Amino acid sequence: MERKIYLDNAATTYVSSEVLNEMLPCYNILYGNPSSLHSFGREAEAIVDRARDRIASAINAKSSNEIYFTSGGTEADNWAIKGIAHAYESKGKHIVVSAIEHHAILDSCAELEKEGYEVSYVPVNPDGLVNIAELIHAIRRDTTLVSVMAVNNEVGTIQNIKTIGKLCHDFNVIFHTDAVQAIGALKLDVQDMEIDVMSISGHKIYGPKGIGALYVRNGIKIDSIISGGSQERNKRGGTLNVPSIAGLGKAVESANKNLSENQQKYRILRKYFLSKLAENVEHYQLNGHAHQRVQNILNISFYGIEGESILMLLDLKGIAVSTGSACTSKSLLPSHVLKAMGIADEVAQGSIRFSFGKNTSKADIDIAVAELAKIVTKLRSISPLQAGRF
Ligand SMILES: Cc1ncc(COP(=O)(O)O)c(C=O)c1O
Repeated sequence: MERKIYLDNAATTYVSSEVLNEMLPCYNILYGNPSSLHSFGREAEAIVDRARDRIASAINAKSSNEIYFTSGGTEADNWAIKGIAHAYESKGKHIVVSAIEHHAILDSCAELEKEGYEVSYVPVNPDGLVNIAELIHAIRRDTTLVSVMAVNNEVGTIQNIKTIGKLCHDFNVIFHTDAVQAIGALKLDVQDMEIDVMSISGHKIYGPKGIGALYVRNGIKIDSIISGGSQERNKRGGTLNVPSIAGLGKAVESANKNLSENQQKYRILRKYFLSKLAENVEHYQLNGHAHQRVQNILNISFYGIEGESILMLLDLKGIAVSTGSACTSKSLLPSHVLKAMGIADEVAQGSIRFSFGKNTSKADIDIAVAELAKIVTKLRSISPLQAGRF
């Protein structure tokens, strides 16, 4: 069988063996319910406490009781937006988010708008950086929450989180950040960066799918969105997913430990990829910030052809990439992120996201770029659009 190459690590990663080893005993040996009062329950509770401590320490939370487990990044984002908007309704019904947020944020905002809330969507510049002057302009007396993602999942741009955190506090507004793509790529210090609420997820950092967490600084009010039990200090009902929580704790701890080493590896791979691409392919552009970025996400628009066609032909060669975020990859609409960055629809339609992971090698890149070059030439030969005219 031909070798398969996975360049879609921003969509999800495999579960590392150290994470799996942490999880496995929780399925058949330490299988108690952490809410139970007997020894089985207490053992499970100790596992959950350990994971909470690991996450709190990785993000420099003041206390581990500021970490709440969720079913993933999507639930954490929904909870942050709706839970805070509702809890502070008496102060105002206005929130501010960036235009390039993940749909977990944008769709939650749309639901709030149906309830009569107002949402301001702050534009970004062509690099994908939130325009700080526009952000300041958007904040009003009745604004309760600002949400700006730490790292964009499609183009990899890193926002000025510390500046935004400080600004929110100067204006007495709560600051939430979606750090799903940032954890493991950046040092996240919730105290230093003045982050009040932060979403994370397991499956982007070699942890399991269907698990995440929301950091909520003590003192911040947040309404529940899932009721039905006294778990998570009465904030989120439902029996805790102990194996996945154990996995998340380990994954966050490891991701935080190997941070600079991983980014250095990805920096070298990125440079290599770009030099190979320049040698073999013409008429394309790189999207996202040139420097203020994570190193493992590369978003490239190939002029004159469709990203979906590139993706499918690469897939036939055993090479996995994506056209944007995994959650919207089945939609044929141009990416809202690229659109917000001012990229024309016909250019955005030709975009591919390559995202490296722990297993990616230069040999993978050699194969991927060689196949890509053949595919781009083939598609352009049958495309009615002229790549050179962009
Ligand atoms: C920036 C961002 N936020 C939120 C999510 C959703 O996380 P999950 O897949 O854990 O629900 C993702 C996943 O793609 C993401 O990239």
